[in-house]
Formats: sequence, C-alpha cells, structure tokens
Amino acid sequence: MHLSIFLSSLALLPLGVHSGVVETFQSKCANLAHTVTAEAKYDIHINIVEYLPAGSVINHTADGTNETCSLFASPTSLPVNICRLALKAATSNSSSIILETWLPENWSGRFLSTGNGGLSGCIQYSDIAYATKFGFAAVGANNGHNGTSGGAFFHQPEVLKDFVWRSLYTGVVLGKNITSQFYGKDKCKAMKSYYIGCSTGGRQAWKAVQSYPELFDGVIAGAPAIASNGLISFFGYAFQSLGDNSSDTFLDTQNWETLHEEVLSQCDHLDGAVDGILEDTRKCKPNLTKILCENTSRPGCLSQAQVSAVEKVFSPVVVDGQVIASGQQHGDEVRMINALYGPLPGTWLEEYFRFVIYQNLSWNRTMFSLQDAAVALKANLFNVETFDGDLRAFRDRGAKVLHFHGQADEYLPVGNSDRYYDLVAKTMGSSNAELDEFYRYFRISGLGHCFGGPGTNYLGQHGGTAASDDPDDNMLMRIVEWVEHGKAPEFVRGTKFVNDDPAQGVAFTRKHCKHPKVNVYKGRGNGTDENGWHCV
Ligand SMILES: *[C@@H]1O[C@H](CO)[C@@H](O)[C@H](O)[C@H]1NC(C)=O
Ligand SMILES: *[C@@H]1O[C@H](CO)[C@@H](O)[C@H](O)[C@H]1NC(C)=O
Ligand SMILES: *[C@@H]1O[C@H](CO)[C@@H](O)[C@H](O)[C@H]1NC(C)=O
Ligand SMILES: *[C@@H]1O[C@H](CO)[C@@H](O)[C@H](O)[C@H]1NC(C)=O
Ligand SMILES: *[C@@H]1O[C@H](CO)[C@@H](O)[C@H](O)[C@H]1NC(C)=O
Ligand SMILES: *[C@@H]1O[C@H](CO)[C@@H](O)[C@H](O)[C@H]1NC(C)=O
Ligand SMILES: *[C@@H]1O[C@H](CO)[C@@H](O)[C@H](O)[C@H]1NC(C)=O
Ligand SMILES: *[C@@H]1O[C@H](CO)[C@@H](O)[C@H](O)[C@H]1NC(C)=O
Ligand SMILES: *[C@@H]1O[C@H](CO)[C@@H](O)[C@H](O)[C@H]1NC(C)=O
Ligand SMILES: *[C@@H]1O[C@H](CO)[C@@H](O)[C@H](O)[C@H]1NC(C)=O
Ligand SMILES: *[C@@H]1O[C@H](CO)[C@@H](O)[C@H](O)[C@H]1NC(C)=O
Ligand SMILES: *[C@@H]1O[C@H](CO)[C@@H](O)[C@H](O)[C@H]1NC(C)=O
Repeated sequence: MHLSIFLSSLALLPLGVHSGVVETFQSKCANLAHTVTAEAKYDIHINIVEYLPAGSVINHTADGTNETCSLFASPTSLPVNICRLALKAATSNSSSIILETWLPENWSGRFLSTGNGGLSGCIQYSDIAYATKFGFAAVGANNGHNGTSGGAFFHQPEVLKDFVWRSLYTGVVLGKNITSQFYGKDKCKAMKSYYIGCSTGGRQAWKAVQSYPELFDGVIAGAPAIASNGLISFFGYAFQSLGDNSSDTFLDTQNWETLHEEVLSQCDHLDGAVDGILEDTRKCKPNLTKILCENTSRPGCLSQAQVSAVEKVFSPVVVDGQVIASGQQHGDEVRMINALYGPLPGTWLEEYFRFVIYQNLSWNRTMFSLQDAAVALKANLFNVETFDGDLRAFRDRGAKVLHFHGQADEYLPVGNSDRYYDLVAKTMGSSNAELDEFYRYFRISGLGHCFGGPGTNYLGQHGGTAASDDPDDNMLMRIVEWVEHGKAPEFVRGTKFVNDDPAQGVAFTRKHCKHPKVNVYKGRGNGTDENGWHCV
C-alpha cells in the first residue's frame, strides 16, 4: 500500500530535482520541518510533519487536542493526499498559537484560512479538511488557547489579543509563508487567498476585512459574533428579563410552544408559503393579545407580565439611548429558548464578564445588569466589538466578501448582521448596488446558527454542509467564482435533506435572495417548488 503510493507519486509528480535526487511529494513533506524552521520569522516549534494519503483518519485526541474540543475535533477522514504540518508559534512572550497547515498534493494554487467558535481555542478540523477537498492549502489555528473555556483570558491580555485578532493574523501570515515555501515562490505569485468561518469565525472574518484587508481576496463571513460586547450582554439581558422559574415573567415550555404556534399563525403565510419557515423575519411583528390568559383559555396562555418579558427578548437592547444589540427574531421560539437555556449563552456571559471584563472570579450571571453592558462596551478590549463600517481598503484592493446569517439563528440574532450591513452602507455612503461590487449579504431563511434549522440549510458554508460542488449550491465555490471569474452571486441555493441527513435524499431546495431582496412564493403547494419563489 505505502509502496504503491510512493511509486505512483514518484511516477506522476516529480516536484523538483535536488542534489540529483528526484523529490517526491512525500520527501518534500518530510523536509518541510527544516525549511520552515530556517525561514520563518516567528519563534516556532514543529509538533507534527507527516504525509497522509486520502482516507487516513486523524485521531485528534491522540495528537493532544484538548478533550473539551471534542465537538470540533471528532476524528477527521482525509478527502485527499496531504502534507500535514502542525506547529506552535509564539505570538508574544506570554502567548502562542497552535497552527495546522494542510498542503494537498493536488494543489489548486489557492490558500484558505478557517476560523473558530465561541470563546473556544479549538481548531475546526472539518473545515480544514473540507477546503483541502477542493485543493486549497488550508490552515486553522487554536485562537491562542486550548479548550473551550474563556478561563485562559484571566489576567492574560496577550491571550485575549490572540483571540480578538492575532491568532488568525499570525496563522495566515505564517500559513502563506509555509505554503509558498512548499510549492515554490513562483507558483505562489498569483496565489489567491480565502477565508471561511462562522459565529466567532464570522467575527474573525469581519476583523480581517475591517482591519487587515491585505490578508484575503475572498471572505465568507457566517453568522458573525460582531457587536460582541452588546451581543454577549444580550444574553444577560434576556435572562434578566425572563427571570427564573419562581418569577412571574418566566415562561415554561408550554408557554413557548403556544407563543410559537401563535407567531406562525400570524407570520408564516406572509411570504406566500405556509411551511414553517419565515422568509423575512423583520416582517413578523406578532400581536400577542390573543394569547393573553385574560382573552383565552388556551393551554400555555400568557400573562401580561410574560408578554412584556417576551417583548424585551425580541426587541433591540438600548443603553444610554444607543442600540447595543438586536433582539431575537421571531419564527423559531422553541429552538431559540432551548438554546438560550442550554449551556452556551450563560457560559459565554459569565466567562466574558468574570475572566475578561472584571477579572473577578466571584462574578456570576445573576449579577448582570445593563450597567455591565456599558462597562464592556467602554472597555472594548482590542476592539473585540468588530463593528467598523469603513471597508474602503478591502474594497479598493478588489477583494470580495460574502456575508450570510440564518434567519432561524437560535443563538445570535440576525438583526446584528442587518445593523452591520446598514452601518457599512451609511459609513461609506454606498448604495446597495455599490456595496454589491464587493460585499453581498444573504439572510438565509430557516437556517439555524451556522448550520441546522428548519429550512434549506446545506449551502457549503462549513465542512460537512455541501450539497454539491456547483457554485450555485456551494458558498466556497461561489466565492472562488466571484474572486477569480467576476461571477458575483445573485442567490445562494440551500438544500434541505430529509431529516438533515444527506443519505436520506433531498427534501427540497430554495434559492436565498441577495439582501435587500426577499423571497415571495407564487408557486403551487407549500413552498417546496424552488421555481415558485421570486426575489422582490
Ligand atoms: C483516539 O485516541 C485516544 C487516545 O489515544 C483513544 O483513547 C481513543 O480511543 C482513540 N479514538 C479512536 C476513535 O480511535
Ligand atoms: C514581555 O514582553 C513585554 C512587552 O513586549 C515586555 O515589556 C516584557 O519585559 C517581556 N517580558 C519578558 C519576561 O521577557
Ligand atoms: C486535481 O484537482 C482538480 C481540481 O482542483 C481536479 O479537477 C483533478 O481531477 C484533480 N486531479 C487528481 C489527480 O486528483
Ligand atoms: C496547547 O496544546 C498544545 C499541545 O497540543 C501545546 O503544545 C501548547 O503549549 C498548548 N497551548 C497552550 C497555550 O497551553
Ligand atoms: C483543556 O481545556 C479546559 C477548558 O478550556 C481547561 O480547563 C484545561 O486546562 C485544558 N487541559 C489542558 C491539558 O490544557
Ligand atoms: C517566509 O518568511 C521569511 C521571514 O519573513 C522570509 O524571509 C521568506 O522569504 C518567506 N518565504 C516565502 C516563501 O515567502
Ligand atoms: C426551578 O428551577 C430549579 C433550578 O433550575 C429547579 O431545581 C426546579 O425544579 C424548578 N422548579 C420548577 C417548578 O420547575
Ligand atoms: C409540502 O408538500 C409536499 C408535497 O405535497 C409534501 O411532501 C411535504 O411534506 C410538504 N412539506 C411541508 C413542510 O409541509
Ligand atoms: C392587537 O389585537 C387586538 C385585538 O385582538 C387589538 O385590539 C389591538 O389593537 C392590536 N394591537 C396592535 C398593536 O395592533
Ligand atoms: C385582549 O385583552 C386586551 C387587554 O385586556 C384587550 O385590549 C384586547 O382587546 C383583548 N383582545 C381580544 C381579542 O379579546
Ligand atoms: C469581586 O466581586 C465581588 C462581588 O461583586 C466584590 O465583592 C469584590 O470586591 C470584587 N473583588 C475585586 C477584587 O474587585
Ligand atoms: C452569584 O452571586 C450572588 C451574589 O454574590 C450569590 O448570592 C449567588 O449565590 C451566586 N450564584 C451562584 C450560582 O454562584
């Protein structure tokens, strides 16, 4: 097996002749450790260099990946032959990153960086593998710390700086350098550089576009955790508004189900299709007087106090007359509340204020008030807010950004993305058509946070979410088409698989409109006919 791979590489891919010896991909990979140490300006330490043929499975736990990263680091099966290089690079005298660089044998001439999630220091291996499948030389870094906890930031400003921008930046500079050392400077002269990321990865995307526009030619920014200080504060505000189960503002599961049914009965048909998916969540402004207990004996009816609490969760959060966060969007109340009461939002809130803002271990979520939001915004450490609207430098070098956000995002309200688009338009004095030249925004109906959700949620936006390799169905191929062939997307097609399982076949597809257009259904039946939808 190994011998035949060696021989076929030797026969098909002689990469260069060095000291009279034909250099194979594998021997070149083995030599990489030396060349990289010699050339890179960062203080680096090589952890792993190995040639891995397609079909190999990497057990990240065995490689020392922190056990809390298991969600992001289930064993990765390699789609193609790669040279893998994992290294540690110092970013300051008290911080460092771990960087994975996967260099495919059949290289497309492109480079790509992946991003991270939550407060985590977890490399998203499935995204790296996804990119190598298309021939990208792909990198991913651990965002400056190991494991999912924000505890790593406690009294460690350099580690926080890595999280805000420097891990991504260092990984890209180093990754491009390694890529061009490996394939040869000449071959890399015309190399195009891409980025794909969602959630915190979407925030990292915008950080690069706003502040380091030289890094990428094409960027996919998914469900970005931008306006970060307000966003994290929103979770505290929502908990405070709803109270705990001893409070008269608290809603139990049946209350949320009744609310959701009422919302759908008032809003689902507004787009022309009754299918449980809202094409424009902004149009959904339910009147809840019908489910007030004083008006109905319906099970799960709400008191006036509960309705007032609900209205807070679905309205913008205002501090000192300024909107600091968008409220949640209607349409998926039950998934949203399960996520809000799940382990993540409370942990993000608590860890952010405890370890980052106050550096006080006795701070807990029950202490939150909007005054804390004001403190976080004022501190805005290393500009983690990532909400600058001037994108001229990025635009002027011809780079492109594809921004998407699920309208059924159960964690990060889509309104924050709407506000950002408007901010860019206002800051740059640009019309929608002018922004379209380099920045296109897609509000994806029925998409949850980065993936999942009731709608057509396979868009090629992540490892494991590609319905096909056609640019119409695949955001990664889309951005390449736009950057390299000038074919800008008018829509992004999503695919719904039966039970969200590709093995069970396609349930239906839908073309998602480019903002500010929205989908309206004029077809037959319940909206599953892709051609029945029109962007208006
Ligand atoms: C991965 O490696 C760990 C530690 O060596 C081991 O406990 C685990 O069983 C391995 N997982 C798989 C799927 O092989
Ligand atoms: C670490 O770096 C900082 C800032 O560059 C410097 O002030 C400090 O002296 C350095 N500490 C050590 C131990 O080298
Ligand atoms: C190499 O990748 C290209 C696409 O980048 C693909 O068309 C071609 O089939 C691949 N060749 C091999 C030998 O895998
Ligand atoms: C993260 O884990 C790697 C081993 O995978 C280790 O080399 C590195 O020092 C750790 N980084 C930090 C900041 O603890
Ligand atoms: C793994 O991550 C957790 C949570 O971030 C952290 O508490 C723990 O120290 C890490 N383990 C190692 C070995 O670094
Ligand atoms: C890599 O970086 C080093 C240090 O900045 C530089 O000397 C070298 O030319 C770079 N190599 C390539 C191929 O870009
Ligand atoms: C209220 O919440 C507490 C803590 O989460 C839980 O222990 C208790 O069972 C809940 N009470 C009711 C009536 O649901
Ligand atoms: C929509 O209609 C199709 C065909 O009539 C049916 O198979 C499907 O289950 C319906 N979907 C929904 C969400 O009602
Ligand atoms: C809500 O509906 C009730 C009747 O059910 C109506 O009296 C009230 O004016 C409506 N409120 C708004 C804001 O439209
Ligand atoms: C429900 O109750 C509210 C407040 O008491 C009242 O204003 C409204 O008209 C009632 N709506 C219906 C449909 O009875
Ligand atoms: C930490 O927070 C607690 C509770 O608010 C407070 O009593 C204490 O003084 C704070 N500690 C410091 C060092 O600020
Ligand atoms: C949070 O802090 C408050 C005030 O110090 C304290 O009363 C409460 O028990 C703490 N809650 C938890 C869950 O630690």
